[in-house]
Amino acid sequence: MQPRPVHVDLGARAYDVRIGSGLLARAGAEIAPLLGGRRRVVVVSDETVAAAHLEALKAGLAAEGIACEALLLTPGEATKCWRELERVTEWLLAQKVERRDIVVALGGGVIGDLVGFAAAILRRGVRFVQIPTSLLAQVDSSVGGKTGINSPAGKNLIGAFHQPSLVLADIEVLQTLTPRDFLAGYGEVVKYGLLGDAQFFTWLEASAGDLLARRPAALAHAVTRSVEMKAEIVVRDETEQGDRALLNLGHTFCHALEAATGYSDRLLHGEGVAIGCALAFELSARLGLCPQEDPSRLRAHLGEMGMKRDLSDIPGSLPSAERLYELMGQDKKVLDGAIRFILAHGIGRAFVTADVPREAVLALLRDGLAGR
Ligand SMILES: NC(=O)c1ccc[n+]([C@@H]2O[C@H](COP(=O)([O-])OP(=O)(O)OC[C@H]3O[C@@H](n4cnc5c(N)ncnc54)[C@H](O)[C@@H]3O)[C@@H](O)[C@H]2O)c1
Repeated sequence: MQPRPVHVDLGARAYDVRIGSGLLARAGAEIAPLLGGRRRVVVVSDETVAAAHLEALKAGLAAEGIACEALLLTPGEATKCWRELERVTEWLLAQKVERRDIVVALGGGVIGDLVGFAAAILRRGVRFVQIPTSLLAQVDSSVGGKTGINSPAGKNLIGAFHQPSLVLADIEVLQTLTPRDFLAGYGEVVKYGLLGDAQFFTWLEASAGDLLARRPAALAHAVTRSVEMKAEIVVRDETEQGDRALLNLGHTFCHALEAATGYSDRLLHGEGVAIGCALAFELSARLGLCPQEDPSRLRAHLGEMGMKRDLSDIPGSLPSAERLYELMGQDKKVLDGAIRFILAHGIGRAFVTADVPREAVLALLRDGLAGR
């Protein structure tokens, strides 16, 4: 299958996202034009991803005579921290990485965010290439230039906008994801249909079987359409002054749920996004903003995919509705004290609003916690 590039048109910071099968094997040819005659890159990955895919990447680079050194980190969200940031940046300096070099991030969102941030601050900014290996990273975190780490004070609170120079999304690597990580990433795919493309959502419904079987053609279309939508929004609003907030559909609920579950594997980010989208549509319907059947249609699709869709699907106990609401208020998307919600006039028609009665949200959460 030929890669179908999506161009992220950000002027001096523009880049291509190449999506397709066999991109690891072609990595040398794809990256060589960025190297200006140099024949070396440095790669940062995590141990799980490296065990499955680093050899293929090395072979792809070697095919063009490009050597590489690799640093492998422990998989998991805890790696997005100050200590690992220091480790990565000091390693890059020890590798004598200069501003003309290319740093490659091979992994999921954790590696992409951390390595992108290290590249942003190293020598005031070196170029980096994202090779996203999780579905979540392919459709979301590798595109758009948000990089960063977590702080004890909260998730993603330290970071910088730093766009990659190229993104290589090889569909084949998705085959080695665990079913749970695959479906968590799919939460973000559904989000794109819900926020701005009803036709895409209808296609996802019709393609559920192919997507669950991870058929390459279906995956390539799902990733491409998601990246196109993300790129379009990022180009309109690179630093999130307005429209980019639409990408946070489901996220205000999700961040409160992630905080309530201690960012543990009780709830993965993409699982929280799916539950958050279901809550946002239910709230929209209760407020008379969107047709009653839309939340049901969304829940039916999440159910067909075998995904979490209700608060009661989260194992263990959750705090009260009031406490969850308070946690929503700590989200960094809060502006002047008002919680901004992404609600919808229907599937594919999301909008941003700060005008949501607290009581309506509390009632929704109370019903969810009661399992109704
Ligand atoms: N920068 C952004 O715009 C943005 C957007 C959304 C999410 N994020 C961030 O992304 C992170 C979550 O990303 P994630 O879900 O990719 O997490 P992750 O990087 O932890 O990957 C999830 C798991 O899948 C494994 N994995 C990845 N690719 C694999 C493959 N091909 N085969 C087998 N295993 C593989 C990893 O080792 C890890 O255990 C969060 O930190 C979140 O804040 C950032």
